[in-house]
Amino acid sequence: MADFRKSTVYQIYPKSFYDSNQDGLGDLKGIAEKLDYIKELGADYIWLTPFFVSPQKDNGYDVEDYYKVDPRYGTMADFERLVQEAEKRGIQLMLDMVFNHTSNRHQWFQRALSGDERYKSFYIFKKGKEKGVPPTNWQSKFGGSAWEYVPEMDEYYLHLFDASQPDLNWDNEEVRAEIQKIVRFWMGKGVKGFRFDVVNLISKGEFRDDESGDGRSFYTDGPNVHAYLRELNEKTFGQEADFVTVGEMSSTSMENCFQYAGKDSGELSMVFSFHHLKVDFMGNEKWVLVPADFMKLKKILYSWQTGMEEHNAWNAVFWCNHDQPRVVSRFGDEKKYWKESAKMLATLLHGMRGTPYVYQGEELGMTNAGFTDISQYKDVESLNHFQILKDKGLSEEDAYRILQVHSRDNGRTPMQWTTDKNGGFTQGEPWIEVNKNYTRINASQQMEDSDSIFHYYQNLIRLRKEYDIIAYGSFQPLDEENPSVFAYKREYKGESLVVICNFYRTWQSWESTEDLTGYSHLLGNYSDIRIENKMKLRPYEAVMLYKA
Ligand code: GLC
Repeated sequence: MADFRKSTVYQIYPKSFYDSNQDGLGDLKGIAEKLDYIKELGADYIWLTPFFVSPQKDNGYDVEDYYKVDPRYGTMADFERLVQEAEKRGIQLMLDMVFNHTSNRHQWFQRALSGDERYKSFYIFKKGKEKGVPPTNWQSKFGGSAWEYVPEMDEYYLHLFDASQPDLNWDNEEVRAEIQKIVRFWMGKGVKGFRFDVVNLISKGEFRDDESGDGRSFYTDGPNVHAYLRELNEKTFGQEADFVTVGEMSSTSMENCFQYAGKDSGELSMVFSFHHLKVDFMGNEKWVLVPADFMKLKKILYSWQTGMEEHNAWNAVFWCNHDQPRVVSRFGDEKKYWKESAKMLATLLHGMRGTPYVYQGEELGMTNAGFTDISQYKDVESLNHFQILKDKGLSEEDAYRILQVHSRDNGRTPMQWTTDKNGGFTQGEPWIEVNKNYTRINASQQMEDSDSIFHYYQNLIRLRKEYDIIAYGSFQPLDEENPSVFAYKREYKGESLVVICNFYRTWQSWESTEDLTGYSHLLGNYSDIRIENKMKLRPYEAVMLYKA
């Protein structure tokens, strides 16, 4: 069994990965057909985003039945075969469990609505403050009030996400027991890990108005969250050795993550935090255009690296997922220095302490969608916010500019396999448009080209396995105040590793604070390297140096 600290996880968004039956939607059989590709890349785990029965209001993050495969994606037999086929290749599956909320079509919620008190207590129903006024002023993360009124009951229910995603009441022991049952069911199918969706939001604190914000301080890292996670661990996956878990931690604090992902805290193996992906927001406001703040990015990554290490806790490190725009478009240069910048961003991330996650297509340098019309967007969050922006008085043109940068659909366009129609994703009508640049950016070409982004990722994944220092070494920032270069040093049992990344398209003079005598070149995105203490870094140049 792979040590998760030496492993790399490959994230698959099934809907957009590979369509085996030409209905325009990716499916489980399609994933099975592409396992050799993932094996070739070198990933140890596949994280599959939800494929359970769902009305797909939020692409499967609204679960109607946790025990069944949505027929759109295939059958239970397809899933079982996928597990076996993956295992044959030394790849394990991690499933995405959405337990903060269900779909409103889940039978529990349907029963609650029909007045069944037992199931009503599975959710969070409250009386309004007065007629027409919700219980609190909290905002949904997808826009609008977090409370939905049910006229027949004259009560509201809480939904931190879409109104079709009612929040579960984890304070109810019966809910927690049901969740444990679901987790054990999937463990029985041979999965070896879980990703828990927005799991730091499960324990709600007081229900009162937030005077200064949108309510998140009342339910983020809430009062019983650690106790609930420990209980879930003890009663389910904690009983199996080598089980890997990652929690998606929304707006979390590092102090809480010391515990969520602390080596001996009995909660989870590691955490996703998102502060480094808000450096192009205005505070918590995502639907604005502000340039990425590089110094902020550096500070955040440095502090999470050193902080988590000091407390013996483990990070998941990542740039991309199905909720994020493509990193090469975001922090790199998708045009002139496309390849250089994609490789630089990969080096920066994969050299750090933590388990790296690669999101489908990231290893090819896939770029943002470039959609110009609202009919091309599919994501509930984007559609809601397009309307909100227009209601605020923005022109459609300005609203589009914001969506083009921040929409989650940027990361959801189909995987670009070949130069064939629809990038080889489907011969049918794809559920969301394929990025037009598939003729230039696709897997088949990159697999042939030894200098491709794909092969660069393959090297990074391999190096983490070969060099203990990359997995286990300590982390120390280098030249912290440098406004253009991201550099750090790792140390382990007398070995050293130095990573130097020029984050910009302009040349940078760089003077190393670390004496580089004796270092050799492990990897970089330019071929001719001279290792000197004073270097001229080329556009987006990245080097990884090693000394035994
Ligand atoms: C997580 C998922 C996202 C989903 C949300 C609500 O953030 O990654 O895709 O919309 O939770 O379940």
